[in-house]
Amino acid sequence: MVNVGVVGASGYTGLELVKMIINHPKFELKYLATSTGDTTIEQLHPSLKDVITKDVQKATVESVVDSCELVFLALPHKASMGFAKDLIDKGIKVVDLSADYRLDLDTYEKHYCPHEDKKNIDQSVYALIEYYRDELKSAKLVAGPGCYPTATLLGILPFIPYIDSSIPLFVDAKSGVSGAGKKLSETTHFVTINDNIFAYNPLKHRHAPEIAEKIKKIQGVDISVNFVPHLIPATRGELVSVYAVLKEDIDPIEVLKERYKDDKFIRIREKPVDIKSTAGTHFCDIYASTNGNALFVSSAIDNLLRGASSQALVAANLMCGFDEEMGIPIVSYMP
Ligand SMILES: NC(=O)c1ccc[n+]([C@@H]2O[C@H](COP(=O)([O-])OP(=O)(O)OC[C@H]3O[C@@H](n4cnc5c(N)ncnc54)[C@H](OP(=O)(O)O)[C@@H]3O)[C@@H](O)[C@H]2O)c1
Repeated sequence: MVNVGVVGASGYTGLELVKMIINHPKFELKYLATSTGDTTIEQLHPSLKDVITKDVQKATVESVVDSCELVFLALPHKASMGFAKDLIDKGIKVVDLSADYRLDLDTYEKHYCPHEDKKNIDQSVYALIEYYRDELKSAKLVAGPGCYPTATLLGILPFIPYIDSSIPLFVDAKSGVSGAGKKLSETTHFVTINDNIFAYNPLKHRHAPEIAEKIKKIQGVDISVNFVPHLIPATRGELVSVYAVLKEDIDPIEVLKERYKDDKFIRIREKPVDIKSTAGTHFCDIYASTNGNALFVSSAIDNLLRGASSQALVAANLMCGFDEEMGIPIVSYMP
């Protein structure tokens, strides 16, 4: 067994991690923490009453080091790097769900804040599993991709060699409200989002530079990314539509099937995808079609799982030499 901990256990992605780890055959949940501690997991999440009893402590580096070999940081950006830098120095494997280790330093500092752990950025591995599987096996520090970049990149990356990169990508994305975390705001207030849909941060969201940077790193292509996210009145789920211009004729379903033939958590669909079929699972469902040189790619994920916690757990499986699918949810909440 490998002793693991979750820092940020009161949050949405923290809860998803706890739910999966308690059923994991090789991970032992040894440590749970929040910014204040002094509570229990069932007090934080009444849905876990009579399922698991465990104290939740105030997060400190020393207590992680005393109890864990691997820790998940389900924290806001900036808070994560405050913990990660000392944990890495002390030999603890770290899986960070925040943006702190996802990006090159310049991109990060332009879109987030000054970085406080510059020396470790280069050793982090980006946990887009289907593209970094081998690197993850020897990683000590893993950066969980953003939820929108996960769905967007899994959908569009196979098509990059066939796309006219002089024309920007247009990415139209929709997310359930849990994508914003548990903290209430005006936009996530029930009265604002119920029976409603609206764009937020159009063409200015910080997941756009993440998508562009990873396309460049993985496929070697510079392409500008116009990204518009929308909030929808659902708890979880993300649907991403990408529009691009092709430079040659392709059969889009065949392109997807060929790229993902060995990837059991990517489902190529013959009809447009929906969010509910992936809710509660690690699957990413993808569909694509063309009309002349126009390409449409549609992908769906559960933002809290494939977009965050189950992707983090798969990364941890690989870091520990376990099977990728160990403890990973595959049955959706449908209906
Ligand atoms: N939600 C998603 O769909 C999603 C998808 C991909 C990535 N992410 C990323 O995953 C991270 C967590 O997201 P979330 O949605 O789970 O957020 P959340 O619901 O707001 O939870 C954040 C957690 O961080 C804890 N925390 C904050 N500052 C802390 C500190 N200094 N020390 C210890 N604990 C601290 C909070 O604990 P307290 O209760 O003590 O405040 C809370 O448990 C974020 O970086 C987010 O961007 C989220």
